[in-house]
This record gives sequence, structure tokens and C-alpha cells, in this order.
Amino acid sequence: QYVLKALLLLVVPLLAACDPVQSALHPGGPSAQAIASVWWVMFWGSLVILTLVMALALIALRATPAEKQYRPGRWFILGGGVLFPVVTLTVLLIYSFEIDYPLFRGESEPMNIEVTGHQWWWEVRYPGAGDAEVVTANEIHIPVGRTVRINVRSADVIHSFWVPRLGGKQDAIPGHENPLDLHADQPGTFRGQCAEFCGAQHAHMAFWVIAEPVERFDAWLARQSQPVSAPAGEAAASRGREHFLQVGCAECHRIRGTAAKGDTGPDLTHVASRRTLAAGTLPMTRENLARWISASQRIKPGNRMEDFSHLDDAVVRDLAAYLHSLE
Ligand code: CUA
Repeated sequence: QYVLKALLLLVVPLLAACDPVQSALHPGGPSAQAIASVWWVMFWGSLVILTLVMALALIALRATPAEKQYRPGRWFILGGGVLFPVVTLTVLLIYSFEIDYPLFRGESEPMNIEVTGHQWWWEVRYPGAGDAEVVTANEIHIPVGRTVRINVRSADVIHSFWVPRLGGKQDAIPGHENPLDLHADQPGTFRGQCAEFCGAQHAHMAFWVIAEPVERFDAWLARQSQPVSAPAGEAAASRGREHFLQVGCAECHRIRGTAAKGDTGPDLTHVASRRTLAAGTLPMTRENLARWISASQRIKPGNRMEDFSHLDDAVVRDLAAYLHSLE
């Protein structure tokens, strides 16, 4: 039974490492690479020391009564108990400083993105003049090959911004701004996650970082900076647009180009262009938009959006059609 438990303890972390979508050991950029190298050096170093200590313990355990009379000399105690740890730990400390230090020095003129943690979602703001400012949620697009400075803030409690494959962790502290540089070498999609317990839905506070070639990134940003126009074609979407203003959605959500100017919930201007809903909780589909509107408290209990379960199914469907047209 103990063997089984020990095997489980060994195998479970290995399985978790199989899916590299959010693994610090599958770096997608230089700072994550640096962190991964420190991790491996510490890992192998600790393994060697652990093996050594276990071997000594085993020898001591299996000693015969006669051997137990043996007292090691002063040099063994001093060397193994003081000198060895001091030297090893000092070397490792200097090594990790050498690697870590450049991570916090950053580039002189990085691109800035403001990220604010809320219970339980992420607000993402690309500073720009007036209406050109792009505000989105739970999805951060970045250009490949450029350093991007994320200025991390919080609107309520302490959260922590972490994209394991791109860089270190940075706390989101109310009333304080903390910078963190991200840099992706290759295009890709990287999952991020709030890494500080922040309340009931801490687990549902994920986000995606999408690194794309500069031209694609610029095209994305240009499109996001456009206000939405009246929904084309579908009658349901037009009705949904009216409902959105009438049933209360606009009190909390902003949709640039419309009368919806709420600012407590996520900006929904191009909501359908995002991959997920509710901070990585559901894939972005029309059905899920409808489910979220009518049962958000069942899907993500305690979240700051009330259930709109009192709405008619037809109204919910129209709202979902409208939101789904906002690409
Ligand atoms: Cu936000 Cu945990």
C-alpha cells in the first residue's frame, strides 16, 4: 500500500507536466527560459544532496552495535554541517541572482499594457489617446519578439499575475503598480492564471496571452480600437442590442459605439473575438453566452454578476446573438 502511495506521489506530478500549456518548464521566451534553468539547477542539485543524505542515513540505520560506537571526527561535522551548506547555498544564491537580475532591469522602451485584477477577472488596457484606447478582458495579445511591460494593479484584493511559460509572477496589490516584463520568442497561445488566493472563484481567474507576429498584432489592435457599428443582418442581434440597454447590462458593461457605458464589469466592445468567457471558465460560443447570462451564479457562484434567470428565454437568446456579433 505504501509502495502504491509512493508511486502515485511520483506519477501524479509527472502527469500534470504532460500538458505543457501552463508549465514553467516549457518556456516560450527568454525570462521564462532563465527561470526554467534556475529550476533545473536547483532540482538536480537538491537531488544529489538528497541522495547523499539518504545514503548516510541508511548507513547509520544499518550500523551494527560495534559500528555505532564510531564517532566522526570534528572535520566531518564541520565540513558536512557548516562548510558544505554555506558554500553550496552561496554558490546557488549568486547563480540565481545572476540569472534573475536581468529579468527586473527590463528594456528601456517596452510596450506598456495595464492589467488590473478584479474578483474574478482581468481587465486589460492598451494605453492610447482618447477613444483609441483599447480595453479588453482576460485575453492579452502581444507582438512576438518585443518586450511588453505589464503594469499589474488590483481593483480590490491581492491577486497575482502569472503566465508560467513567459515569465515570473507578479502580485497585483491594491493602490500599487507592479511591473512585469513578458517576452515571447515564438507565436503561440499561453495560459495564465491568478496565483494568489483571492476568494471563492480564485480558480476561475484564468487568462490567455496570445503572441502573434507584429503585423497580425497591429491588425488586431487596430480592429479592437474601432467602436462597434450597428449589428449587420440578423434581427435577433438588433433586438439584443435594444435589450442590452433595457434589462440592465449597460449599467455594468461598456460597449464602445453604443450607449452602454458601465465600468464595473468587463468591457464587451469586441467580446466575441475572445476565446473564453468569464476568465477562462467557458469557451466563447453563442450557447455559452446565453447560459452565462441566465445562470452565471450557477456556473461561477459568487461572481459579481447577478443571474438574469428572470429574463425570457427569447430575450436571453437575442442578447447572446447580439454579443456574439461583437467581433
Ligand atoms: Cu485573483 Cu486569485
